[in-house]
Amino acid sequence: MHRLPVSLQSLLIQCAAFVLAALLFWGLARVVDIAVPLPGFVLVQGGLAAALSRRLGQPAWWWVLHPAFLPAAWLALHLALPPWAYLAAFVLLLLFFWSSFRTRVPLYLSDRKAWQALIPLLPAGRPFRFIDLGSGLGDVLFYLEPCFPLGRFEGTEIAPAPWLISRLRAAWRGSGAIFLRRDYATLDLGDYDVVFAFLSPAAMPALWAQAQAQMRAGTWFVSLSFKVAGPPPERTIALADGARHTLFAWHMPATK
Ligand SMILES: C[S@@+](CC[C@H](N)C(=O)[O-])C[C@H]1O[C@@H](n2cnc3c(N)ncnc32)[C@H](O)[C@@H]1O
Repeated sequence: MHRLPVSLQSLLIQCAAFVLAALLFWGLARVVDIAVPLPGFVLVQGGLAAALSRRLGQPAWWWVLHPAFLPAAWLALHLALPPWAYLAAFVLLLLFFWSSFRTRVPLYLSDRKAWQALIPLLPAGRPFRFIDLGSGLGDVLFYLEPCFPLGRFEGTEIAPAPWLISRLRAAWRGSGAIFLRRDYATLDLGDYDVVFAFLSPAAMPALWAQAQAQMRAGTWFVSLSFKVAGPPPERTIALADGARHTLFAWHMPATK
């Protein structure tokens, strides 16, 4: 289950919660002869789905999305939305999640604790280049940039909508951060002093191979939440309970 893309996991969770809730209510109806109203069923199905999502370690925002799923489906049916509304929703999702199905890396955002933990890894008092691989809405760069006037901050993002939003935000804030719309696999990581990634377990083996092949000795490869199958990280910074909130940093060795 953990190996499936999060969207497929969520579909299975919804189905499992539906079946569990149906069994529960069927049992209740037989034993105590109570016919539970539909809103009660929806509430229990949503609660079960959220609990399963949490148990399987899905990102926290899925815990909120799961209970909203059945009510949203019910609303969509009753509002008799025109077909173009579904097409528009699909296109919007596509622009945000683009090739998540292929990369198995959806958009979810790191937080201030992670950005703060990055600060000691960045060289103070000399120029350097930092890149966020899969830069989402740009927050990592916007947070770090003012702390390091000599740093050059770059991000690369494969999905069009987050990339566009980060570009607009950079323009709005007068930020010097550079946002590329490229697959990080096409970049040369040897150009950077600090490479940061918050991706998914599925993306790590190929990325680690790329980092080992391209990164210069003495530079940092930093991953939020996800380890690589290789040497133990030189720094392990726990940000909160659980591996999802740990920053791992490898100092690239002198010989590859
Ligand atoms: C988990 S989000 C992290 C966002 C941001 N770095 C942060 O910490 O808030 C991962 C992002 O990587 C992007 N991504 C996935 N595979 C990519 C690839 N091969 N090249 C560039 N971006 C990619 C996804 O579209 C998504 O926006």
